[in-house]
Amino acid sequence: MQPTTVATINFKGGVGKTTVTWCLANVAAATANYPTLLFGLILRHLKLRIEPFPVPTIGVFMNKAGYRTNTGLFRETRLYMDRCRAVCEESQKDGFNVHWLENYVPDRVDVKRAIHFGGWAQQYTSDFVNLFKAIEKIV
Ligand SMILES: Nc1ncnc2c1ncn2[C@@H]1O[C@H](COP(=O)(O)OP(=O)(O)OP(=O)(O)O)[C@@H](O)[C@H]1O
Ligand SMILES: [Mg+2]
Repeated sequence: MQPTTVATINFKGGVGKTTVTWCLANVAAATANYPTLLFGLILRHLKLRIEPFPVPTIGVFMNKAGYRTNTGLFRETRLYMDRCRAVCEESQKDGFNVHWLENYVPDRVDVKRAIHFGGWAQQYTSDFVNLFKAIEKIV
């Protein structure tokens, strides 16, 4: 099997890169039965930022989405996601292999505690299983 690298990136701090990576690695290892290696890369300075080559496939999705069980996505979150999708579509026209993924991860306290508690909570498994499936489709 060809190894595949999935990187969780964002220029902003504290948006959930580590949490999402950890949760996706759990899905990869547990549900898809992939041998999984998880590591964190901390760049000491923005000057050291890396530029992957060849330019990778990019999947864009929303973490910490404003969501309520009874009413669904917050209106402003939906608007923001629509805007992001439009930007992805424009970038595609410019030749970038970028995909907007509709699989958002809600802002949830059990996700917040995921790494800290070291467990795998049933309540959020489907969010990350679906996100992982969407990633599998584009890589
Ligand atoms: N979907 C979510 N719902 C609620 N809390 C979340 C979610 N995703 C991440 N968090 C919380 O947000 C905080 C920042 O997450 P995390 O450390 O993963 O971000 P990061 O992008 O890796 O940050 P850094 O730039 O410092 O490396 C943590 O407290 C984490 O538990
Ligand atoms: Mg981090």
